[in-house]
Amino acid sequence: MNKYKIGVLGLRMGDAWAKAAHDLPNTGLTIVYDKYFKENERINHDFYLNNGCVIAATEKEVYDADLDVIIVATPDHIHTEQSIKALKAGKHVVCEKPLAPTVAECKSIIAAVRETGKFFMTGQVCRYAPGFMLAKHLIDQGRIGDIVYVESEYAHDYSKNPGYMGWRNDPAIKREGFIGGGCHALDLVRWLAGDPTEVFCYMNHKYLPSWPAADTGVAVAKFPNDVIGRIFVSIGVKRPYTMRTVINGTKGTIICDNTSDFIQISEESVYSAAQSTKFAQIPVLVSSHNVEAELKEFISCLSQNQQCPTDVIQGTKTVAFGEAAIKSAQTGIPVKMDYNF
Ligand SMILES: NC(=O)c1ccc[n+]([C@@H]2O[C@H](COP(=O)([O-])OP(=O)(O)OC[C@H]3O[C@@H](n4cnc5c(N)ncnc54)[C@H](O)[C@@H]3O)[C@@H](O)[C@H]2O)c1
Repeated sequence: MNKYKIGVLGLRMGDAWAKAAHDLPNTGLTIVYDKYFKENERINHDFYLNNGCVIAATEKEVYDADLDVIIVATPDHIHTEQSIKALKAGKHVVCEKPLAPTVAECKSIIAAVRETGKFFMTGQVCRYAPGFMLAKHLIDQGRIGDIVYVESEYAHDYSKNPGYMGWRNDPAIKREGFIGGGCHALDLVRWLAGDPTEVFCYMNHKYLPSWPAADTGVAVAKFPNDVIGRIFVSIGVKRPYTMRTVINGTKGTIICDNTSDFIQISEESVYSAAQSTKFAQIPVLVSSHNVEAELKEFISCLSQNQQCPTDVIQGTKTVAFGEAAIKSAQTGIPVKMDYNF
C-alpha cells in the first residue's frame, strides 16, 4: 500500500499528529520540524530519534521534502505563514485550531487554498470527540426533535500553560482567549446549530489580569431556524477542564462533555411512558483530543479527492464567530455575521 507521507511543524500538540501519522496503516511520519527541538524539554525526543523520521534542521527542509501532507501545529500566530508556505510548496495541509487569529489572515489562507487547489483541514478536534459525535448522531436522527437552544462552554484554566516561551500571554501577540481556546465551543455550536446570524457578548478580565486580553466572556447568538444559543469561554476559570454542552430540542435534551465517559439524554417519549424524571446515560469513550480520528478522516477525504468537513471555510467561519463576539464586547452592540470570504 502506498502510504501518505506526512510532515509535522511544531511538536507539542503536534506530537499527537506525529504519533497518529506514525500509527495509522495508510500514513507514514516522514519528517518533523520544531524550531526549539533541542531546548524544549516538553518534546518527546526519544520518539522522534527512534522512529526513523527525519528531524529537519530548518523549516524549509519540510516544504522541500517529498510529502503529501504538512501538519501545522505551531502557535496560532504562525499558522497563516506556515500554512500558505506549505500549500505553495504543493502540499495538502492540516492546520491546528484556531485556523488563524483573525478573519483577515484566514482569508489569505483561503486564497492560497483556491490558488493551489490543495486540500485543507482545520483541526477542530471536538467534532471527533466520541461524546460530541454521539450527540450529533442522535440529533441528526431526530431523537430530541428540532433544536430550540444550544449552549457550550470552554472552561480551561491556562494560568499554568502560557505555551512554550510564553506566546499565549505575550502582549505583542495578544492572543484572544475567545478565539484561541474558545474556538472549540464556538465551532461545536456551529456544527450542531448551523452558522450564527447575530452575536452579542460581554467579557471581563479578572482571572488573569497580567495576560493581555480578556480571559472570560459569555456570548449569546441567533442561529438559523429560530435557534438561540449561548457560549461561555474562560481561560482562567478555577475548575477542571470542561466543555459541557447542552442541546434542548422540541422532544428532548442532551447533555454531553468531552471529559465524561457518558452522555445524558432525556427523551419526552421515554420519560412520559416511564414516568421517570431522570436522564438516561449512554457510555462513550473519553477522548478529548481524538487526533487520530481527525487524520483518518482527512486522509479518507484526500483519497476521494474531496475537501473534508472542517475545511478552510469552516475554520474561517469559526474564527469569524469569535471575532464578532469580541467586537460586540468592545462596542456593546450585537454584531451581524458576515460570511463573505
Ligand atoms: N486541538 C486541540 O485541542 C489543541 C490543544 C492544544 C493546542 N492546540 C493548538 O496547537 C497549536 C500549538 O499549541 P501547543 O499547545 O502545542 O503550544 P506549545 O507552546 O506547547 O508548543 C508549540 C511548539 O511549537 C514550537 N515552535 C514554536 N515556533 C515554531 C516555529 N516557528 N516553527 C516550528 N516550531 C515552532 C515550539 O518549540 C513548541 O514545541 C496552537 O495553535 C494551539 O491552539 C490545539
